[in-house]
Amino acid sequence: MVITSLRLSLFLLLGASSALAAASCPGAPAPAYPLRVASGWSAMPVLGSLTRPRGVAVDTKGNLLVLERGKGITAHTVDGAGCVEKSKVVVDDPNLNHGIAVHESGKKLFASTPDVAYEWDYDAGDMEVKNRKELITGMLGPGHNTRTLLASRKHSDYLVVSVGSGSNIDDGAFVTSTGRAQIRSFNTKNIDTSAAFTDDNHGKIMAFGMRNSVGIAEDREGTIHSVDNSVDDAYRVNVVTSQVVDIHQHNPAEKAYTLGDPSNANASFFGGAPYCYTVYNPADITDQSLKVGDYFALQPNSTFNDAWCQTNAAPPALVLPPHVAPLDMKFGTHKDDNNLYIGLHGSYNADTTVGYKVIVVPGEYSGGRWVPASGVQTPSTDLLANQNEANCGTGCFRPVGLAFGEDGEHLYVSSDTSGEVFLVKRGNGAFGGFKNHPSHSVLTLAVALPALVWALL
Ligand SMILES: *[C@@H]1O[C@H](CO)[C@@H](O)[C@H](O)[C@H]1NC(C)=O
Ligand SMILES: *[C@@H]1O[C@H](CO)[C@@H](O)[C@H](O)[C@H]1NC(C)=O
Repeated sequence: MVITSLRLSLFLLLGASSALAAASCPGAPAPAYPLRVASGWSAMPVLGSLTRPRGVAVDTKGNLLVLERGKGITAHTVDGAGCVEKSKVVVDDPNLNHGIAVHESGKKLFASTPDVAYEWDYDAGDMEVKNRKELITGMLGPGHNTRTLLASRKHSDYLVVSVGSGSNIDDGAFVTSTGRAQIRSFNTKNIDTSAAFTDDNHGKIMAFGMRNSVGIAEDREGTIHSVDNSVDDAYRVNVVTSQVVDIHQHNPAEKAYTLGDPSNANASFFGGAPYCYTVYNPADITDQSLKVGDYFALQPNSTFNDAWCQTNAAPPALVLPPHVAPLDMKFGTHKDDNNLYIGLHGSYNADTTVGYKVIVVPGEYSGGRWVPASGVQTPSTDLLANQNEANCGTGCFRPVGLAFGEDGEHLYVSSDTSGEVFLVKRGNGAFGGFKNHPSHSVLTLAVALPALVWALL
């Protein structure tokens, strides 16, 4: 297996060097870690040495906006190939830490700190902001500190905001007045800026019991989806023996949900936290016959048990392996692109490191929303990955934010730990090509030459 992939790499190195030379941006740094990219696509860094790039967005003039945690927001003009030409600082604010969104009109910019979501008037021509407004306040809390923002394109008055739980297993996740572990939708046309996040007249609950839905996305029909980071250190108290069994290596699943319309929020959408989690490996739960995608309770009792979870928690649309840490999701914006793209930040407490890549899930549009091609277990394909994911404990790029360029053929991907932003481009790869393309099949290496040589050592 190793020999084969080395031969493949050598073949590409010797036989396709012009293709490799074409797959880089002038003046851009080489990748910090050796990459692999799906067949028919190419990938290259467009920016390096940034300050922990997190959320990314593309404005209505095609400029790339990057939220750099601890610095602020930088803006970058790009050429026709998607490469960065010129960069400038748009917002100087070290408290901004993750969320960024551009209004559908292109005239407003949103970004978040752990406490506040701001809105600015934005000029995409000059890449400048003015008139900062505190749109949503009172989000500060313990635990997870990203406040992901989504500006709906279809319902352009609406801003959707995600706040994670206060701890790994947070009882407050079930109490909606805490404002934790929930996604709310705000009508920015008649927002009351003196009201806090938790005021129900201000932001409507779209989902609660969402442990940490860092990724939120709108599909091409205007339906909102989220991708959730599930519980760490999962265990199961066996209902027969009362024994506590450590099941954290292979459970629970990370997962995506279909939430619906931000202008008609469903306040009873319950994501399961802190009581209910989703089965990834059924073999770990020996006291019940459960299948992948079913709910289970960590510690079943007469109130909260598997059956209660199955009845009360909303079924996920898609399961992902445990530990992969999805931090963003984007639906293809090109009219022919029915894929879902998910950025995985990667594991920290699995025996073998997993995640650390951008994956593609094929799907289709049905009943006004995106659905995965073959149900909750639809397999994914790696789009942009590290050469050796199992060695990521010693350093890898770690995808965070995703944003499509206007034509939907350019996908920007930030990596916070390596300070990079990559451009992933569709070459001759069809958008639909992922359907029959298992993740371990042949992958094209399209990194800058030094990294490729490094990868062979
Ligand atoms: C709201 O969400 C709950 C939980 O998933 C679901 O049972 C219900 O049908 C949803 N309501 C609407 C109107 O979509
Ligand atoms: C059931 O478990 C939950 C969560 O662990 C706990 O809060 C609740 O008090 C328990 N109820 C009973 C009846 O034991």
